[in-house]
Amino acid sequence: MKRFFSVNDVQNLRDLVNEVVLIKQSPFKYQDLGKNKTLGLVFLNPSLRTRLSTQKAATNLGMDVMVMNLDKDGWALETRDGVVMNGSNAEHIREAAAVLGNYCDILGFRSFAKLQNQDEDYSEDLFNKFVKFCNIPVVSLESATRHPLQSLADLVTILELADNSTYFSGEAHVKARPKVVLTWAPHIKPLPQAVANSFSEWMIQAQSESLLDFVITHPEGYDLAEDFTRGAAITHHQDEALADADFIYVKNWSGYRDYGKLLNNPEGWMLDSKMLKQTNSAKVMHCLPVRRDLELSSEILDGPDALVIQQAGNRVWAAQAILKRMLENL
Ligand code: CP
Repeated sequence: MKRFFSVNDVQNLRDLVNEVVLIKQSPFKYQDLGKNKTLGLVFLNPSLRTRLSTQKAATNLGMDVMVMNLDKDGWALETRDGVVMNGSNAEHIREAAAVLGNYCDILGFRSFAKLQNQDEDYSEDLFNKFVKFCNIPVVSLESATRHPLQSLADLVTILELADNSTYFSGEAHVKARPKVVLTWAPHIKPLPQAVANSFSEWMIQAQSESLLDFVITHPEGYDLAEDFTRGAAITHHQDEALADADFIYVKNWSGYRDYGKLLNNPEGWMLDSKMLKQTNSAKVMHCLPVRRDLELSSEILDGPDALVIQQAGNRVWAAQAILKRMLENL
């Protein structure tokens, strides 16, 4: 594997999930694979889970890791070609990425959507330039439109529970082919669509491999880009979507059509314990960080139905499987 950016970089989801689960069972089996290899993690935005889980994954593989908060500790980046650099941007991405590629064997890169210009964000210009100019394998740590390491960990979390329905409490209630629902949640500020887009494209691919059934629910106006949702059932009626759900993935996103806007904050969309009654004893997921009692009730987060800590834990094994595949192809 030379690049991990989207679900399209994976040939068979079931095989990858199985590999993640095997790594979780034997985390140090490949501890010599990354010997004398360096992973560089480059962040233009904040991170807790992605930064530390990927660092831990690389360490388990025997790699050295360098982390740089390029937005704070680096020179301000120019990304356009053909401009005279007489403004505040001191370093061009052509040199910055090439130098990082020179120091490292694999790079991770995080750059969120700016939510100012849909074409610019959805062209993934910055991520693509970074990949091109660093000239070594790159794993996305979340780009403008996708968060694939999160989505892989989410799929693993769902399937390890669906595959072994006694995983948590001994109650066998999760169907072999579970119903997975992505539900929009309120927020105080507009967030990128990356996590929702990514979760959707991974679930649609998993659905096509007969691993689960996928439904999206959101208020009117919050449609995601069709490229990410083709093949999913979509409804504006949250209660309809939640009926018989096995897994509910809670996430806010801002408007795609009315780009980057917080259109309104419709009442009644925050998931709470009462809403879980209509589900198939659903487990509740969120990528974190989560705003308690705004996006998701603290009663759910503190109760037995929340999977958020397991999801975050699986970020390590997901990253480790991807780094392993990249190391095997160096
Ligand atoms: N879920 C996730 O990517 O968390 P961080 O932004 O803290 O890395």
